[in-house]
Amino acid sequence: MAKLRAFSGIQPSGDLHLGNYLGAIRNWVLEQSERDNIYCVVDLHAITVPQDPEALHKRIRDLAKIYIACGLDPEAVTIFVQSHVAEHAQLAWLFNCLTPIGWLNRMTQFKEKTGDRRDQSSAGLFVYPALMAADILLYQADGVPVGEDQKQHVELTRDIAEKFNREYAPVFKVPQPWIKEDGARIMALDDPHKKMSKSGGPNNLIYLLDTPDVIVKRIKRAVTDTGTNVVFDPERAGLYNLLEIYLLLSPAGTTKEQIEQHFEGKGYGALKSELAELVVETLKPIQQKYNEISADPNYIEEILKRGADRIRPIAEKTYSEAKAAMGLG
Ligand code: AMP
Ligand code: TRP
Repeated sequence: MAKLRAFSGIQPSGDLHLGNYLGAIRNWVLEQSERDNIYCVVDLHAITVPQDPEALHKRIRDLAKIYIACGLDPEAVTIFVQSHVAEHAQLAWLFNCLTPIGWLNRMTQFKEKTGDRRDQSSAGLFVYPALMAADILLYQADGVPVGEDQKQHVELTRDIAEKFNREYAPVFKVPQPWIKEDGARIMALDDPHKKMSKSGGPNNLIYLLDTPDVIVKRIKRAVTDTGTNVVFDPERAGLYNLLEIYLLLSPAGTTKEQIEQHFEGKGYGALKSELAELVVETLKPIQQKYNEISADPNYIEEILKRGADRIRPIAEKTYSEAKAAMGLG
């Protein structure tokens, strides 16, 4: 039987953090052999807010290197840059014309990102979910492995596919959100009621390329409560988040009960220092690999060129079907 196709992407708009790793990339890596995988660096999404051109150009390459450093095998998985395949922007235009404004108005991420500065934000930021739909639907993906915060965008993608298929012709596969229960929402270390995020300030997160000293400091300072026993109690949000990270980074098959037993009679301090060690050990090989790849700038350029060349024919085929169905050309 043919493998199911996964498509996902991350914006090259900041350094990656532990939330991105545990909510997204780690799952891509764990399941890469079971699926046909396409992973994109979504640079057209990044320019929905102002970017410095030189910095953006570098970040695009850095993000692709992170994908590989985290364990995606570039021989088996397609890694490419969104703007290298012109059909993303082209199909997004067709979707802009198909998508009612009311659907976009419901997107909570847009509301959160713009707040009371809606009129100053770019039109691109508003139609961003239609571009995301184009990314996914161009490749007839079966599923989209993302964190919980992207669920609404994947649901909109399904709505757009269904509307197109109904009103024009059945061109698109309707994809599923593939969201894991564990790790889908890693919380900020300095405020466990907010998600860990690029825009949340330096004390809220751990970057994948942080040094051991910084990692230890951030975890030591993580907000918990005045309790003492280390158990998975969702009411104690800070503690729960640390334990959740500990569980995700433990060997496969480790249970919550085993972790609670391990920490029985020990306090939050022990959890924090063991967790810091686990995070440092997890990130060490990723950082090593990242440095290795960075030594030869041609390496990543070649991977990205090959990736785009490999999947462009799929995008061209879908786009020409969509165009024809709409009577264009
Ligand atoms: P972003 O950094 O918002 O571009 O997100 C890139 C990917 O990481 C998406 O799949 C998100 O769902 C995922 N992600 C971002 N922040 C978190 C978080 N705090 N917990 C889990 N997943 C996250
Ligand atoms: N919107 C996603 C985010 O902010 C990034 C993204 C763009 C994406 N296109 C995608 C994710 C297609 C999955 C599939 O994280």
